[in-house]
Amino acid sequence: TEGKYIKYRGLLCPKETHSEDSLKYFEGFNTRDDDVIAITYPKSGTVWMQEILPLILSGGDFTSVHTVPNWDRVPWLEETRAPLVLDNKPSPRAMVSHMPYHLMPPSFFSSQAKVIYVARNPKDVLVSSFYFHQMASFLDDPGTFDEFLEKFLAGEVLFGKWTDHVKSWRNNDLGNRILFVTYEEMVKDLRGVLRRFLDFLGREMTEQSMEQVVSHCTFSHMKNNAMSNFSMIPRDIMDHEKSPFLRKGIAGDWKKHFSADQEEKFNTTIKEEMAGTNAKFPWD
Ligand code: PPS
Repeated sequence: TEGKYIKYRGLLCPKETHSEDSLKYFEGFNTRDDDVIAITYPKSGTVWMQEILPLILSGGDFTSVHTVPNWDRVPWLEETRAPLVLDNKPSPRAMVSHMPYHLMPPSFFSSQAKVIYVARNPKDVLVSSFYFHQMASFLDDPGTFDEFLEKFLAGEVLFGKWTDHVKSWRNNDLGNRILFVTYEEMVKDLRGVLRRFLDFLGREMTEQSMEQVVSHCTFSHMKNNAMSNFSMIPRDIMDHEKSPFLRKGIAGDWKKHFSADQEEKFNTTIKEEMAGTNAKFPWD
């Protein structure tokens, strides 16, 4: 494990995409008041937000999603591309991050930057991550599904426990600076969610632009967008033949992977760790 990861404040981050320098940049990050940050636990809709946010912030201009790779278009705050591109980006900027709330940089807390937190059914997160570990050579081999499930529940995976991540962001002091949505709502009604994003961010878009954004951001369309599907990454780093990054894009694929025993164990652990949070999710 040591070899492929940096441990940052107890959290595993892949060395392929994180460095001591990028994490230092993150800690001293200079947040602007009009920044928009999508926060996700890995495999919960990050790349989807990298597609949607620039279209919203540009008022429906498709140039960036057709010409700029997602990692430079909407960089991960903690990753190696951030220091190279973010300071020179004109406002309003969009970023993504997998960091828990309490590790966000000081300038984030004193700013007016807005946050969209996207949560996904942890069972589908686990399945998505299991395949991601098979296709990405910079991650450990996941072993069997059962072994990977144990690791996931123990938090011995990228960015720690799913429950810790969700809880950290639910207990925030951000008031109306944060909006919570789920991946499942986006799958079911992307147009409705786009409407909520526009209202939250105080943005306008014509009906026609909204239609265009929704159809551009469908799974099948994004799967064919070279700027968003990681096809430019060399095959020895990401092997889409083993499992494409944009793999299935549905809710409920876990049903094809979990045994009854695994489901029971998973439910019990998550329920225990979420007790007292009064969190209600569409998958519960
Ligand atoms: S990462 O590595 O954390 O950045 O991954 P992330 O982008 O958060 O999650 C990848 C999963 O999101 C799915 N995805 C989508 N689903 C539906 N519609 C659209 N447009 C879309 N874009 C990305 C992607 O397919 C991964 O889920 P799985 O279940 O593996 O297909």
